[in-house]
Amino acid sequence: MRRLIFAFGICFLVVLAVGACYAAWMIHRGFTTRMPPGAIETSLAASMRNAAFPSKYKFMRNPVTVTSDILNEGMEHWADHCSPCHANNGSGDTMYGKTMYPRPLDMRRKESQDMSDGRTLLHHPERHHA
Ligand code: HEC
Repeated sequence: MRRLIFAFGICFLVVLAVGACYAAWMIHRGFTTRMPPGAIETSLAASMRNAAFPSKYKFMRNPVTVTSDILNEGMEHWADHCSPCHANNGSGDTMYGKTMYPRPLDMRRKESQDMSDGRTLLHHPERHHA
């Protein structure tokens, strides 16, 4: 039993030391949106954000039936309100997009295309006005 406690203690200290080194490195590097974040920061931020989404939104469906008129209206709305950051083709490769963190992702990726309607709504609900 004492060996087990000792082993856990060592593991805890190793994790603590690695965490402290990482924190020190991040503080040394500084925080700026000009540099892309590292893999650990990206993965931690993504999992925390995923956990923060209320589950009812994850399964919410768009109540509007898709017609060609609705699609055209959506594309016009996108061009007017969303393209400054996301680009008209959804790549996110824009002057504004490059200065933000998190950056607007390339919405043509499978991960974005597979997002549920409610989930996309949560990204910035204040912009999804009628
Ligand atoms: C001021 C800049 C800006 C504008 C304008 C903007 N967005 Fe975004 N959008 C972002 C950023 C930055 C992100 C990345 C945020 C994140 O990952 O949490 C994002 C993320 C998203 C995502 C999630 C995409 C993904 O793959 O993770 C969706 C969906 C989205 N935006 C839709 C829209 C829509 C629809 C509009 C217009 C009605 C819009 N955005 C307007 C900056 C903007």
